[in-house]
Amino acid sequence: PPDAPIKMDPFQTVAREMKFLTGNIRQLLGSGHPTLDTVAKYYTQSEGKYVRPMLVLLMSRATALTPRTPASRRDSVIPGVFARGGVDAPITDSKILADENPDTPISSRSFDTAYTSGDSDILPSQRRLAEITELIHTASLLHDDVIDHSVSRRSAPSANIEFGNKMAVLAGDFLLGRASVALARLRDPEVIELLATVIANLVEGEFMQLKNTARDEKNPSWTEDTVSYYLQKTYLKSASLISKSCRAAAILGGSTPEVVEAAYLYGKNLGLAFQLVDDMLDYTVSGEELGKPAGADLELGLATAPLLFAWKDNKSLGKLVGRKFSMEGDVQKAREIVSASTGLEQTRVLAQEYVDKAIEAIEPFPESEAKAGLVEMCTKVMKRRK
Ligand code: FPP
Ligand code: MG
Ligand code: MG
Repeated sequence: PPDAPIKMDPFQTVAREMKFLTGNIRQLLGSGHPTLDTVAKYYTQSEGKYVRPMLVLLMSRATALTPRTPASRRDSVIPGVFARGGVDAPITDSKILADENPDTPISSRSFDTAYTSGDSDILPSQRRLAEITELIHTASLLHDDVIDHSVSRRSAPSANIEFGNKMAVLAGDFLLGRASVALARLRDPEVIELLATVIANLVEGEFMQLKNTARDEKNPSWTEDTVSYYLQKTYLKSASLISKSCRAAAILGGSTPEVVEAAYLYGKNLGLAFQLVDDMLDYTVSGEELGKPAGADLELGLATAPLLFAWKDNKSLGKLVGRKFSMEGDVQKAREIVSASTGLEQTRVLAQEYVDKAIEAIEPFPESEAKAGLVEMCTKVMKRRK
């Protein structure tokens, strides 16, 4: 039947674009300073999951088939209109130092390569957006591993261990700088604003996470606010990047406001589900399988969804939450209470509810491989083990 759901491997749908992703990102991260070059590109060597770029590419393709705005930006891209080349122009390579010398004449700068859109229904600006989301994500990981005193990421020593905290922080800042340049070149103020807000949101989420509860008491009691504080933090820390980049993909494609909103809701709900599953895996999966230490959240003093749900039925957890599991035996005790509770199950149920909402948001999109890929991403998020 014509409207039977199309089953698709999301990776296959955008495999061609994904193939160039890492190379393009590495190009965006080139520096004339050899050590900075190495540290900045460190996390691009390991195999990331590339969830965010994949979502941007799938959303770009899925929304290409939806209604356009009357004066679609999609049609108004003029090749070579910018002095520094189009969105595809390399931002850097070995010539970077010459480029950044203001005396270097424009004509000899390395930006003047041809603007090619290829035959794909994904715009060059959308492909670049996919790379920008991975840059921002990787920058946040560089900083996160310093903050969390991580020792491993993606089955290798984390950057803070390999190069030290100073270089890891600076490399993260460098990634944000290059992401900002690439973003500016998209020449879309609304998209720039969205992604700049994401960067601020990441920091806001991380600040909220420094406290387990809104009022940060020594012996907090469980209230309805406990979960909403956690969900607000989770939106800022994880769902903001996914939701706002899905929104930006639709904007760059010239979608109507309704489609832009649907793209955002898909990303928001999937992003929340993604982090809920992440918080669950921290309790249920071994460090070996995760590629990073398991059970890290309690050790870091963090009360995530499984524990917050367990706390509702076992009020003795309040004291432990208040002192961030810092006393001898606290982590073990908390782990036992969570295991004996329905906290993990409740977390899975909530994640499934968000995933269902994500699928519902894009329901009106015309059936396509890319839409099937977006739906499949939801299934993958629920099934993932790392
Ligand atoms: C991973 O979470 C970290 C994040 C999702 C965001 C971290 C954000 C910052 C450090 C804010 C400042 C950074 C930038 C670039 C604006 P996790 O520690 O729960 O997961 P993990 O187990 O993968 O370390
Ligand atoms: Mg961490
Ligand atoms: Mg962290």
